[in-house]
Formats: sequence, C-alpha cells, structure tokens
Amino acid sequence: MSGIVGYMGQRSAQSILLDCLKRLDYRGYDSAGVAISDLQHINVRKEKGRIEDLEASLILEPITQGNLGIGHTRWASHGTPSALNSHPLSDPNGRFFVVHNGIIENYHQLKKVLGENGYILKTDTDTEVIPYLLAHYDTGNFEETVRQVIPLLKGAFALAIMSAFEPHTIIAISQDNPLILGFGHEESFLSSDIPALLSYTKEIYPIKNGEMAILTQDRAIVKKMSGEGVEPRKISIRLDKEEIHLKEHDHYMLKEIMEQPQAIQRTLDKRLTKDGVRLPEVDAFLQAHDLSSFKKIVIVGSGTSYHSGIIGKKVLEQLLDLPVEVAISSEFSCEHGILDKHTLVIVISQSGETADTLSALKEAQEYGCPTIAITNNPRRNIARKADCSIFTHAGPELAVAATKAYTTHITALLLLAIVLTQKTEGPGRRQLPEFIEALRQLPEDVEKSLIMTQDAIDQFAQVTNDQGHLFLIGRGLDYVLALEGALKLQEVAYLHADAYASGEMKHGTMALITPGVPVIALATQEALREKAVSNIREIKARDAFVVGVTTIGDDAVAEIVDEVLYIPQAHPFIMPIIAAIPLQLLAYYAGTVRGYNVDRPRNLAKSLTVE
Ligand code: F6R
Repeated sequence: MSGIVGYMGQRSAQSILLDCLKRLDYRGYDSAGVAISDLQHINVRKEKGRIEDLEASLILEPITQGNLGIGHTRWASHGTPSALNSHPLSDPNGRFFVVHNGIIENYHQLKKVLGENGYILKTDTDTEVIPYLLAHYDTGNFEETVRQVIPLLKGAFALAIMSAFEPHTIIAISQDNPLILGFGHEESFLSSDIPALLSYTKEIYPIKNGEMAILTQDRAIVKKMSGEGVEPRKISIRLDKEEIHLKEHDHYMLKEIMEQPQAIQRTLDKRLTKDGVRLPEVDAFLQAHDLSSFKKIVIVGSGTSYHSGIIGKKVLEQLLDLPVEVAISSEFSCEHGILDKHTLVIVISQSGETADTLSALKEAQEYGCPTIAITNNPRRNIARKADCSIFTHAGPELAVAATKAYTTHITALLLLAIVLTQKTEGPGRRQLPEFIEALRQLPEDVEKSLIMTQDAIDQFAQVTNDQGHLFLIGRGLDYVLALEGALKLQEVAYLHADAYASGEMKHGTMALITPGVPVIALATQEALREKAVSNIREIKARDAFVVGVTTIGDDAVAEIVDEVLYIPQAHPFIMPIIAAIPLQLLAYYAGTVRGYNVDRPRNLAKSLTVE
C-alpha cells in the first residue's frame, strides 16, 4: 500500500511532488522518495520516515530545478521501511526508475529468472524486479520496453516509470490498482487518489487496465498496450478543495468524527423519501436477480467495515427472515460455506480498494453469486466489479482510522435492508414505518450524541492515560459496537482494549478484572438492559472503574457505574451509530493525550492494496 504521484509541466516538480505526497500520506508513511529530471539527468532522493523527512533532506540539499518527476510514499509490504527499500527503485545502471503501488505476485519467479541472467537484486521489495526487467528487455525505445515488460507482471499494481534515456517522459500504468491522470494548463499530473490533485486540477482520467499514459513535455496521451491511441474521457471532479481542509480541527480524525451528521445526511439524501426508501441502483440489480431466489446473504469486509457488516447482519436477518453470515475478507476464501447463484454477497469497503475485500468479491463472483458493494469510492475496483454498488457519499476520509465510514456504511446497510424488505410480504414490513421514522431523525441524533458526550469523553480520556488495558462490554448490537470501540482504541491510542459479550466475562475474562481496571459498559439496547445491568454489577463487585454508556432517562445503569455517558434514545437498529460517537471520541482523545499522531497511527495505512 503506497501513494504514487507524478508531475510534468513548467513549475518546480520538487515542490509539487512533495505537496501531492503530503496529501497522499494516509496511504503509507514509513518512507518516501522522488525522482526528478532536469531533462539531462534523473536525480533521486529517498528517506526513511515521513514526507516531512524527505522534505527536510531536500531543503538541506535541493536536488535540481527539474520540471518533471515521480514520487512515492510507502507502507512497507515487502521489506522493512528503509531508504534502500524506498521507491523510486532502479536497475544497477540507473536506466529506469520505478514507483509502484500494489503487489507483484510472481516476483519470486521473476527474481529467479533475473538471477539466472546474472542480476543480483539489492532490496527486499517485490518492486525491484520491474526496473531490472526493463533494463534486461531494453529495446532502446522506452515505450516499447514498457510494453514488453508489463505482460510479465502478475498482480494488481500501479506504476510510474522514468527512463534516463528519455528523461522528458513519464509512463504510467494502472492494473487493478488506481492511478489518476490529471490535466492542467500545459501540465499533467499523476496521483493514486483524487484529493491530492485538487489544488492543481479538476479534470481527471482514471487510467484503465490495459492502457498506458505517456506524459511528455507538451501533453499527456493515453494508449492501449497494443499502441492504439485512446481518447481519454475526462471527468470533472466535483469535490471541493475545502472538503479536505482541516478547518478549525487539529486532526482529520476529529474533523471526520464531527462531520458525521452531514455525512449521514448525504447517505440518506434522495433515498429516504416520504414513501419509504428509494435505491434505484438496487432496483436495477433486482431486475436481473430475483430477490426471492436468494437463500442466504453473506456480508464481507475488513476491520471497521467488517464490524459495520455484523450490525447489518443483525438488521437484515430480522427484517428479511433470511440467514445472513458475515465474513472477514481475508478469511473469506478459507470459510465461506456454500456459495452459488442463490447467495447474495454484499462487500463493504470505504476505499473500494482493499485487496482482501476485492479478492473475496472476485471469489464470490467465480461461484456465480450476485454481488452488491457498499463503498465511499464509486470509481474504485470494488465498485466497478460488483454487480451493483451503493455509494455512501461520506466525502473524503483522510484519517487512517475509519469513523464516518463506519456510520455511513451502517446507514447504507439500513437503507438496503429497508429496500429489500419493502419488496417482500414478510413480517419485517410491519417494522418499517417506525424504523424509517427513526432513520429520518438519525443525523440530528448523531449531532446530539456529539454534543452530549464530547466534553465528558475528553476528561475520561485523561483518566485512561496511565492505563495499559481497557475492556468494553455489551450485549447484542452493543457487543458488536464494543468490537469497533476496541479496534479504534488499539489503532490510535495504542491501548490494549478488548471487547467482550457482557455475559461472557464470567466464563474466563473476569479473572483480569482487578480494582481500578477501566471498563466501558455499553447498555444502549433497551430490551437487553436488565441483563446488561446485572453484568455491570458483576464487574463492579470486582471494583473495576466502570463508565456506562446508556440512553437518556435510564437510571438503572447510572446508579451502579462510576461515570455515565448519556446519548439520545432511538430505535435499537440505529443505536450502534449513535453510540459509536463517544467511542470514536474516546479513541481520539486517548490518542492525543498520549501524544500520538492519531491521523497516522504506526504500522498502518489506509486502503490496503496487498493481501
Ligand atoms: C480501522 C480501519 C480499517 C478499515 C479496513 C477496511 O479504523 O480504518 O480497519 O476499516 O482496513 O478498509 P476499507 O473499508 O477501505 O476496505
């Protein structure tokens, strides 16, 4: 998982590449590098660490005044983070320079072939085989050489390549891995993602499989690998530069937590009508796939998206009276049970790029399953490959930790559950009017939850500062929410947080409850509250420090816990959205109070394009 950028024009490539890389650093931040051409030579600079480290090195010792170049920010998948393993990578004679995002699946075989031809590779990366292969198959013509080498590579990859023999050209390839070509006035850009280009252009073209983009000094052209020219259909980006500004917030994570009422409203807009829910994309899908033919639904996702899938399972199952399974994307190929054309597979991915989820989607399709994707990125592979995709409209999520992705995924799943139920005659239909009314209130309820909990959570986060462990407990939907709360705390506060089904504690984990251990007890499901209260008593009897999260007007929880956080009362299906707010805020404040960069947690990156 990495970010790629490229620039060709009249301005300083160094500053544009650095600026775009900074905007892509959520894709990886353990090393970075650039290759810049002054039309005579290509100069490379790479540093271990963040883009700022590379920038510092370039300030101390500027490379060149070149107007074209490529850059890379890396999340190490093969080989440790080091200057040696960072991109751009080159061949022994410094003829070709390559930046790469994705994975070259057959790199072991390619390395062996190169070894048999006398080449000794220097790094631990899969990428290095590419410049070596380019050097080995060099025809003397850059474009032709690239054309020879690309078919040898297996996997999903995006590449930007420069050649010392043609230092006025950049060639870009996108094979099941995103790479965007941006068009400016007498300049062109490359980037793994759109937000990095917003300051420079709003005209873009996502390079497609089987194409190569060739950036030369006066223009950027697109060709098929066969050499035939392609007229790129330019897309105008509607995203506004303002949307990626931090505004008054210190971090993107907080900004994204705070903007959830608006993000959820966008997910609901034009879909929640006075007569119910409208999802024309699902109507079109159901023309081709009869709803009554589905015997089972399987929901697949990774991390936070997986957690939103478990909430979706509980709602879909209750409304549709159909078995629903949930699978972790990376486990899907090991344990998917029976799959066939009667199994509807729903994949969830904010980025639309996660390799584990993409591979689960492909596998489901090989079994003939009809597929629906829920995503925030409609132009990405997952949306393109699924039979139907429901776009969340959450807006760019730039913090590595998913927050508004979680709540908008659940919102989209709820809309889908309603649309499917509307088309049945089952008993679930009777639940719809009340549920739909509750959904209308959702953005307002989320706003209230933010207002009601932010200050108290900030204070509680200070209390957790000297703690090494924390437990989250809940029953039913609250247990699923606890899983998500724990993931956030691990991810951004590096706090060992574990989630348990409340009733399960007494079967083992209770041994870890000693005086003062912090426990967050979720008790937002009214129907389960009595049992939840009795489980909290068991924990309190061991003198844990318990923070209860419950709905306004509930005294039973308040009476037995050390601190209570009230959130608005709402329909049980939407409580996991409203109650997610204090947990997200807790992770944020616990991370910041410990002095961590919550937007860029260690060892992680957003949208992981390796399995
Ligand atoms: C956690 C987080 C990850 C992602 C996961 C899937 O805060 O962000 O667990 O949810 O990597 O990502 P997508 O949804 O892009 O497939």
